[in-house]
Amino acid sequence: MTAKQGAGACSGGAGRPRLPGATITGWGTALPDTVVTNADFEARLDTSDAWIAERTGIRERHFGGTTSGLAVEAARRALKVAGVEAEEIDLLVLSTTTPDKTVPATSSAVHAELGCRGAAFDLNAACAGFVYALVTAVSMFQAGFSKALVIGADTLSRITDMEDRSTAVLFADGAGALVLESTPDHELVLGHDLGLDGSLLPILYCDHGEYMKMEGKEVFRRAVRATVESAESVLSATGTTGDDIALFVPHQANKRIIDAVAQRLGLDESRSAIVLDHTGNTSSASIPLALSEAADAERLNDGDLVLMSGFGAGMTWATALLRWGR
Ligand code: COA
Repeated sequence: MTAKQGAGACSGGAGRPRLPGATITGWGTALPDTVVTNADFEARLDTSDAWIAERTGIRERHFGGTTSGLAVEAARRALKVAGVEAEEIDLLVLSTTTPDKTVPATSSAVHAELGCRGAAFDLNAACAGFVYALVTAVSMFQAGFSKALVIGADTLSRITDMEDRSTAVLFADGAGALVLESTPDHELVLGHDLGLDGSLLPILYCDHGEYMKMEGKEVFRRAVRATVESAESVLSATGTTGDDIALFVPHQANKRIIDAVAQRLGLDESRSAIVLDHTGNTSSASIPLALSEAADAERLNDGDLVLMSGFGAGMTWATALLRWGR
């Protein structure tokens, strides 16, 4: 990958225009009821609990629901935490790679079901999509929006071949949502880097009506490199180092990818937010799921620096350095 951060990428560090002030006031998650364990796959595919756990870190995942249904559930929880009514929301950005329909955008159904007002649209940057959506929403505060719901929701089980052991054990369903409010008093996004290398499209893709196709080893290799380079570019642009990061919230694809990235960034394991052991890879949902669980576990304090970094089909990558708090 020519992961030259700067080519199509932008970091909000020294000398760069800053994003408008914002604060995260609510967070919420949704996972379908059906739990599928590694033992369930072991019973019907040529695989084992030991292989899946060792090679990926995943022990169980959730299958079911619709993208809009999971998005609504996560959003309702986030609104409740924020103490914000749905009708106060004037911007809804839904990151998904598995829309319910081709037309209209899944955010239409979510907007109607919640009773939001204002603008709503879907964004697809695959598994890097949630960070793209977050940076987009905060940027749009400059255009006058003031309360945003940013949701990552995916139902990857619908586009995964359950007979293919190399992908079936990885992908799953879920949603995570954040409520963001515009404020001049808090700089939320200290730096960001959004990018992609479209020449890598062939290593992970899904044609209409078909299942995902993936060159696992190549995706692994590229993912580590892209994530490290993207995160390093943001740390460098903002004059921070791994030592300054209170919580690393990576895309949850493979524990070995997360560990390799964290190690290169100088982050010890205790500072990574991990949910993939019980969620699998939920694409757009994985970063807000991990952030929300960390917030619920009271792992975050005002002023903490949070580094979010994801990668996905495209290949896309996205990093944002946030300052938690109000
Ligand atoms: N159970 C048992 N064996 C499996 C298996 C499974 N579920 N899946 C693959 N294997 C086998 C392979 O067929 C291969 O067998 P072979 O040597 O006989 O050909 C062997 O395990 C090793 O395969 P390899 O691809 O080298 O394994 P790996 O250690 O790279 O792990 C992935 C495979 C898919 C888990 C890993 O490459 C990965 O996580 N890649 C990134 C995927 C990703 O992040 N995708 C989402 C991007 S958003």
